[in-house]
Amino acid sequence: MAGEPTPDQIASGEFVRVDGAALREQMARLFVALRVSEEHAAIASDILVASDLRGVDTHGVVAGLRYLDQIESGLIDATVTPRLVRESAGSAVVSNAGGLGVVGAHLAMRTAIEKARVNGIGHAGVVEGRHIGMVGYYPMMAAAQDMIGMAVTNANRSVRPARGADPRFGTNPIAFAAPAGTERPFVLDMATSTVAAGKVRRAHALGLPIPRGWAVDAAGRPLETPPGGRDTSWALTPLGESSDGEGVNYKGYGLAMMVDILAGVLAGGGSSADLDYGSNMSWFMAIDISQMRPVQAFKADMDLLIRYLAETRPSDPARPVVVAGDPEADAFEYRSRAGIPLHRDTLATFRLRARTLGTPSLV
Ligand SMILES: NC(=O)c1ccc[n+]([C@@H]2O[C@H](COP(=O)([O-])OP(=O)(O)OC[C@H]3O[C@@H](n4cnc5c(N)ncnc54)[C@H](O)[C@@H]3O)[C@@H](O)[C@H]2O)c1
Repeated sequence: MAGEPTPDQIASGEFVRVDGAALREQMARLFVALRVSEEHAAIASDILVASDLRGVDTHGVVAGLRYLDQIESGLIDATVTPRLVRESAGSAVVSNAGGLGVVGAHLAMRTAIEKARVNGIGHAGVVEGRHIGMVGYYPMMAAAQDMIGMAVTNANRSVRPARGADPRFGTNPIAFAAPAGTERPFVLDMATSTVAAGKVRRAHALGLPIPRGWAVDAAGRPLETPPGGRDTSWALTPLGESSDGEGVNYKGYGLAMMVDILAGVLAGGGSSADLDYGSNMSWFMAIDISQMRPVQAFKADMDLLIRYLAETRPSDPARPVVVAGDPEADAFEYRSRAGIPLHRDTLATFRLRARTLGTPSLV
């Protein structure tokens, strides 16, 4: 399966499979050791491990280890509780107060869902936010309640606008989920850059080249060697860039701007230009399907639509047409059985962390 280590990498011990439940518990214990409440630690570790289970390794426990560093350095305040600072019947503003971003995001999505249940639609913005991880987690919370969910988040500058050489946007992802009946839910979860920054970071860490079109240098020339740091000497490209650096990237640029307006400008948390590394301002929306039509009818139509797409004649018979969310749902099914592959260095970091923080080593 794509994204899985090869049998050789497992046999050599380069990657080790770890049980998802044990990893969730380990991550939670480490947060608690740094004064995160039990409740927040459970929410955060569930979101992080869900990401690993879905094959989104860049935003899973590897990001969780980064959060531990950021709690220790003071970038994240482990002790605060996010709260509603403004509210109407259909909307809310959540202050994350510089705490764990995933916890504030979880509260905002819960609030949007509660408001949708009453009003048909609900939305919530987050200010003073920190990194919220795999954005698809939040609209999936709505889909699990028979609602359509949407979430967007901005980030500090790493993506150039079309025709620009300097970074002006974060990778500003958009996530959208809708439930189906017997088919799996549709879950579109995508950066508005050609790829998420984590993929360049991962390629750098593993010493692998990156495809032309993912990133450019300060003169706008495509890069094939992934840069290590985060500075203005290079930029990620907006969605639609081609390998010659001249695609239809103005569409990704427009989407990045749309995200910045919803996530940063609407509630006033700040657009990409205002943000430091590790900050995410976000916006969440839920639509209660039952207030438009019977949920079963909606789901039956979703099933028909998904099957219609899956039955499209594939251009390569070996690669059937799927819908967004399918690759991650496949990874989830496989990893729930086989375990999550952690790089041996990541595993070593977990064990060292458990030892130095005086918590049991569970993985
Ligand atoms: N918190 C942040 O600051 C931040 C920033 C950027 C990205 N992210 C996260 O990074 C993760 C990765 O983002 P990405 O843009 O690299 O994702 P990606 O390119 O791997 O996938 C994007 C979407 O395309 C779908 N997809 C993949 N192959 C498909 C196919 N053949 N047919 C149909 N659909 C298909 C996937 O299901 C997914 O919904 C996401 O979870 C995102 O939320 C987070």
